[in-house]
Parts: sequence; C-alpha cells; structure tokens
Amino acid sequence: MISKETIQNILDHARVEEVVGDFVNLKRAGANLKGNCPFHDEKTPSFVVSPAKNIYKCFGCGAAGDPLKFIMEHEQMNYPEALRYLAKRYQIEVVEDNQPFNEEAKEQQTFKDSLFIAMKFASKYYHDTLLESVEGKAIGLSYFKQRGFSSKTIEDFQLGYAPDGFEVFTKHAQESGYQIDILEKSGLIKVKEGRSPYDFFRGRVMFPIHNLSGKVVAFGGRILSSDVKQAKYINTPETDIYTKGNLVYGIYQAKNDIRKLDACFLVEGYTDVLSLHQAGIHNVVASSGTALTKEQIKLIKRFTQNIILIYDGDKAGIQAALRGVDIMLEEEMDVRVVILPDGEDPDSFVKNRGTDQTLEFIDKNKKDFIFFKADILLKDTNNDPVLKSNAIHQIVETIAIIKDPIRKAYYTRECSKIAQLSEDILIKEVNKTLIKLQRQNKQIREADAVVARELIEFDSPFKEQTPVPTPEKDLHIQEKDVLRILFMHGHRVLPDGKHVATMILDHTHDVPFQNSNFQKIFDQYLKSYDNEVPFEELGDDKHYTDEEVKEFIIGLNISPYQLSPNWESQHNIIVKNMDRLWESDVESTMNRFSYHKILQELKSVDEKIKESSNNDNFEEIIKLLEKKQILQAHKKEVAKKQGTVIF
Ligand code: CTP
Ligand code: MN
Repeated sequence: MISKETIQNILDHARVEEVVGDFVNLKRAGANLKGNCPFHDEKTPSFVVSPAKNIYKCFGCGAAGDPLKFIMEHEQMNYPEALRYLAKRYQIEVVEDNQPFNEEAKEQQTFKDSLFIAMKFASKYYHDTLLESVEGKAIGLSYFKQRGFSSKTIEDFQLGYAPDGFEVFTKHAQESGYQIDILEKSGLIKVKEGRSPYDFFRGRVMFPIHNLSGKVVAFGGRILSSDVKQAKYINTPETDIYTKGNLVYGIYQAKNDIRKLDACFLVEGYTDVLSLHQAGIHNVVASSGTALTKEQIKLIKRFTQNIILIYDGDKAGIQAALRGVDIMLEEEMDVRVVILPDGEDPDSFVKNRGTDQTLEFIDKNKKDFIFFKADILLKDTNNDPVLKSNAIHQIVETIAIIKDPIRKAYYTRECSKIAQLSEDILIKEVNKTLIKLQRQNKQIREADAVVARELIEFDSPFKEQTPVPTPEKDLHIQEKDVLRILFMHGHRVLPDGKHVATMILDHTHDVPFQNSNFQKIFDQYLKSYDNEVPFEELGDDKHYTDEEVKEFIIGLNISPYQLSPNWESQHNIIVKNMDRLWESDVESTMNRFSYHKILQELKSVDEKIKESSNNDNFEEIIKLLEKKQILQAHKKEVAKKQGTVIF
C-alpha cells in the first residue's frame, strides 16, 4: 500500500495544467486554460482548467476534478495505478507501507490479485504453447494461419492454444506454485469428487478476454474438430474478476480508436473482431453471442455515443440486432445497423472484399436503427391488421424511448410514412406510450412528462382531474425551454415572416419570467440585440460577459437539442428535414409555455374567486367566473393543439 506521506507528496506536486496538458491541447483564456473536452465530443472548447484551484471542469459534460481524478478517468486507471502514474510523471519515490487499514478489504484484494496473476500465467502459457510446442504449432498455429490470422494479430490479441489432455495445464501450474483453490476459482481447472483436478480448456485455440486496463480476466476456447457433440466455444464461467455482462471482447485493443474515430463497430464473434482489426479497422468489439447488457453499453459509451451493429444476414443475426437496442437508446446512444449479405459474417466479408470495400459497404448500408426495426417488423405483417398493429406498437415503444424531441418528431414522421399511417395517429400512440412509461416511473424528459400529464386530462374530460403538482416548478421548466428556443432558433424566420425571437418577445413582453435568473438571461439577450449583435450570433456565448448566461448557453450546446454546425453532416439522414423540425420544436415549446401560463392564471383566478366569495362580492364573482370559462376554453384549445403537434 502506498504510504500516506507519498500520496500527499504526489497530490502536492501534480499540477493540473501539466497533467491535463499531456493529453489535451490547452490555450490560455484569462487566468484559466481552455481546450476541447477529452471526455465528450465537442467542436467548441468548454473544458476549463484552473491552475489557481488546481482543478479542471467541463461546462459541457460536467466532468470535473483534480489531477488524480483526471488520470483515473482519462486513462481508466484505479486509484493506486493513477497515483503511481503521477509519481512517475513527477519523479516521486513511492514508499509503500504495510499497514492495512482494513484486513478484510486487503484479503479480498489479495484474493483477486491472485486470480489476476493466475490468469496472466495461464494466458502466457497458452500463448507460448501455441507458438513453441510441437502440438501447439501443428494444431493451433496452423489453424490460425489457415484462417488467415497474421503473427501480429496473434500477438495483439495474445491468442493461444490449450493442449489436448486432462492434466497438462493443471500439472504445469501446480509445479509453478499455483494453488488448486486459486486455479479453480479462476475457472481454469475443474475440481470434482473422486478424481484429480483437470484442465477446463482442452485441445482448443484460446482467445483471452482482457478488461479495460488490459488484464486477462477470462478465456474463450474454440474447438478445432467439427465434432457436433461439443460446443464450438466454451468460455470461462463467471468468477470474482469476471462478469460476462460487464465486458465486451476487444475493448482493450479498441478503446483508443473508438475514442479517436468517435464510433464503435459491434460484431458478434471473436474472429470478427480479429479479422476487422487485422484489416486495419480497430474500433471494433464483440458482444460474444449474447444479448447486450446495460453495463456493456455504458462501457462503450465511455468512449463514444455512436454504435454500429454489424450482423449476419440470417434470421438469428437480425434477431440479435433487434435485441438490446432499446437499452442503447435509453442510454442515448446513436444506433445504426448494417446487415451483411446472407451467409457472411464480418470475418468472411472483410477477408473476401478487403478493407476499403468493407468500410464502403458499412457506410452505404448502415441504417438508422428505428427504420431498420420498422422495415423488419412491417415486412412480415403482409398487411394483416392485427400483425400490423402489433408491429406499430413495438415501433412506437422504441420511438418513445428516444429523449431528444427533435429526433423523436423526425422518427415519428418517417415511420408514419413507412407504415402508411397518418402522422397524427402515430403521435397519439407515442404520447400514450410516454404516459405509460411515466406511470412505470421510467425517466422521461421533464417537459414531456408535464405535457403527458395534461394529455391524460385532455383525453378523458370526465375523469377526476389529477391535480398538477407544483405548477411553479412546471412553469419554471417551460420558461427554461422558451429561453432555449430563443437562443437556439431566435434568428430563424417563421412562415409568417417574423423572427422566432420577435414572436417570443410578443408572447412575453408584458409578463416577466417568474424565475428571476431566467429573466436576467432574457434581459442580456435583449441587451445584445439592442447592441446590434447580428441575429445569427445572438445565441453565441462570446457576445455575453455574464457567467450565468455563458453557462446557460454552454449548457444548451451539450444538451440533446444541440444543433451545432456539424450536426447535419453527422446525422446525414436527418438533414433534409431539419428545416421543418425546428419549427415544430418552436411551436410545441411555445404551446407548452402558453399552457402553463394559463394554468397559473387559472390558479390566481380561483384564489380571487375564493376571496370574493368570502366578501360576498357577487358582481366580482360573476366576472371572475366568466374569465375562468374563457381561460378553460383556451386551455383546452392549447392542449388539443399540443396533442397533435408534438409530444
Ligand atoms: N459463442 C459462444 N459459445 C458458442 C457459440 C458461440 O460463446 N457455443 C460466442 C463466441 O463469442 C462467438 C460468437 O458467439 O465468437 C459468435 O458465434 P459464431 O458466429 O458461431 O462464431 P464465430 O465467431 O463466427 O467463430 P468462427 O468464425 O470460428 O466459426
Ligand atoms: Mn465466423
């Protein structure tokens, strides 16, 4: 254990601008330094380093911390690893002390360490056996060579061979001082009553599975004969250092390229990863033939939000592609699907056609996940109304999960075309699903939730009205949304020739924002407008000095609503419809805002009615009741409009 004094020494010496500066190109910005955030994809720098405070903070994604935290996050190191890294960086001698503060934790750590050591030992053994033993060379190596894997690929992935015998590895490991207990708990050997311990992997080529920091935690072993009685692959069972659902195969070799290229190819098999990697396509990982888990998605999400599934063209491949995707959408990943011609997998495809053709095929055939799903589901219905309605429900459920309202609107419209249904019907269905999700307490966007609540009310006028909880908070959310469209779309011109900004001013000029912070941000916008900042630039944070305004704008820039200059090219499928999507965004935001304004007014009218009845002021009561009637009619109108515009 690293001594307390050493830790303090390291923390005292590590300078944030130097530690971060090793990885990020930083430029001076006043007392601070600024750069592009290494933790999320961005075009304008919102990553700030403060030498004075010795911390970094990203106003985009919220990443923040000291030099040690930076190394842990950026290099995916654990606490002692990061400390040692910094010690080396600053040439500080690491003094260990052997005072465990927690016996149990230490024992557990030592136990896991033993498993890691055993796995490392086994990995080296299988690898050496492949390259050096007679049996390994004759059977394992020739198999890999015959499949076209180069020596470099064999090195990069530390491929190996487990000899065909029951006690070859077990004996060798025992002779090298490894305890049976540890070997068994690593999943390397099996122990059964009445017989001596025996090797788990026998006569198989070996694929070590590395964790993020490159340690071997498990193996997959492929059989070489075409013996149908045996499984083609067997894998290390779950152990204290290996949970199958937490890892994807190849992540250690792929992570840097995934980050660099901001995209991750997801394939099914070990050999698919190897072949693509060997062809120079390094940003690839495998799910290893099982359904994806949330943890696996989160792991990939640390490096990119763009995921491209590449699956076989057979039925199983398509089914596999359909599975797990809702989890990806929930995690706000951008999911594309490429289906290869029937009978091919990525391994055979890249071997037959080469790198360029493979990349070109992927690029030409990648399909937005929702359309993929819609196509597949609708194709099988043969216009049978029941089947079709089932299919549509499944599609709608997927659309509802998407958080970004603009994309959600876009998918709804496009899917209505695919399904040959009116857009209104599909919107209604999505809204219903949103309400359902909300009931199930699934996370949906706040502003959506509020509207979803109103729709329940609107749909069933005779039902006892659910009281809207804290209208103040709801209005606050809507006010923020109005500011969002002001800064994002203010310069755009509506069909009636007015600028969006002017329209918003018309709506808000006589009633200030309830939230004084928002009013301040709004005032700053008006001030810049008066100072003749060009319309197109009013949403740019460089025209504002106030920190709060800047932060607000930076916040918009990373929100899912972002329409950065490159947005359109990145989402090339969506581009041609974007010009109409901002319109529905503006319209629905203003609708929601009006709706909540009306709710507020209704509330205050109700209070006045109460007051007046306490004073028996009938004349006043009648006036107020008339006003209330008008407001209620107005409210219905807006809710109805909202129901058919957007969520
Ligand atoms: N798999 C497994 N156990 C099996 C079969 C498959 O764990 N009995 C996993 C493996 O990770 C395998 C993946 O599912 O890589 C995909 O299976 P498959 O397509 O059958 O194998 P390939 O990877 O294509 O292997 P090969 O090309 O050597 O046949
Ligand atoms: Mn294959």
